Amino acid sequence: MTLLLHLADFNERRWAEGFAAALPGRRVVTRADSFDPAEIDYIFVWKPKPDAFEGLNHLKAVLSLGAGVDALLRHPALPKEVPIVRFVDADLTQRMSDYVVAQVGMHQRLATRFKRDQAAKRWVQLYPPASSNICVGIMGMGVLGQDVVKHLRVSGYQLRSWSRSPKAIEGVEGFVGPEQFNAFLGGTDILVNLLPLTPETHGILNYENFARLWRDGLTDGPVLINAARGGHQKDADIVRALGDGTLNAASLDVFEVEPLPKESPLWALDNCFITPHIAAASSEKTGVAYFSKVIRDHDAGQPFPNVVDVARGY
Ligand code: NDP
Ligand code: OXD
Repeated sequence: MTLLLHLADFNERRWAEGFAAALPGRRVVTRADSFDPAEIDYIFVWKPKPDAFEGLNHLKAVLSLGAGVDALLRHPALPKEVPIVRFVDADLTQRMSDYVVAQVGMHQRLATRFKRDQAAKRWVQLYPPASSNICVGIMGMGVLGQDVVKHLRVSGYQLRSWSRSPKAIEGVEGFVGPEQFNAFLGGTDILVNLLPLTPETHGILNYENFARLWRDGLTDGPVLINAARGGHQKDADIVRALGDGTLNAASLDVFEVEPLPKESPLWALDNCFITPHIAAASSEKTGVAYFSKVIRDHDAGQPFPNVVDVARGY
């Protein structure tokens, strides 16, 4: 068994050492090593280069360091018929819930208003609504969305979800498919995006949809939190909505172009809370543990877990 690491922007050598220790008796190579492409059984990828899959004619699986596989699925030379196993990990999931819970709490407590009052040295005792009066609507009720609602439920928020297939989750009002999308938005104060990026979800965070959000829950208007992919949003629509009050505030971890260009007007908006795609990092320790188990289990005859449905796009 030979595992090839192809991790742009990561310390490939260090990950390789981790895999070599976790997979004794198996060969682990990086792009810098010499190897025969025909000997590679598994390729572990992040941002694969155009020639990444050249000559890999005996692959058993493509292992994706990303939980989201949109970019990988767009790779023009991605081998068809080879299963793609994506990263599903408790540590990454917890970090995403940490991010969303922090942003939701901040906006529920009217962070933008008090930030502006502080800048103006203004003492106005306006009491934020209780969490039980605020509805958080989560787009995407998969691994991440389901963990987020567990955490938000404890804090007392009203919760609703939007997904492709129906979900029965305690304390969460479920909305399904395009027919119920507007109804979902119509009762949402804080919109959280945790969808995969697919042709159906591309550009879904747009001005038209922001204007459909509930306007009477949060004191100063609805809020957007996007921790999924930049391709879901139209940056210019967010700028417009944040400027005219259609959105009161936004927390953005992802952008149409990353790194966010210096000339983006988003940087200067005091009601836009920007982080550089760090909501939920993949850790080396858990990544090595997860994917070496995937390899060991498969070599022992077990099926791959968390296989991407290529036709569905996630
Ligand atoms: P999952 O595949 O587990 O869940 C995806 C959810 O989205 C499912 O509930 C699915 O519905 C729903 N969905 C997909 N397409 C549609 C659609 N057209 N309409 C309505 N609902 C839809 O993904 P994860 O929860 O693991 O991850 C979600 C995304 O988060 C990733 O794809 C990635 O892009 C992003 N991410 C971002 C990170 C960051 O640091 N910013 C880190 C990690 C992930 P159904 O349940 O019916 O299939
Ligand atoms: C991921 C990411 O998809 O980090 O894992 O965005």
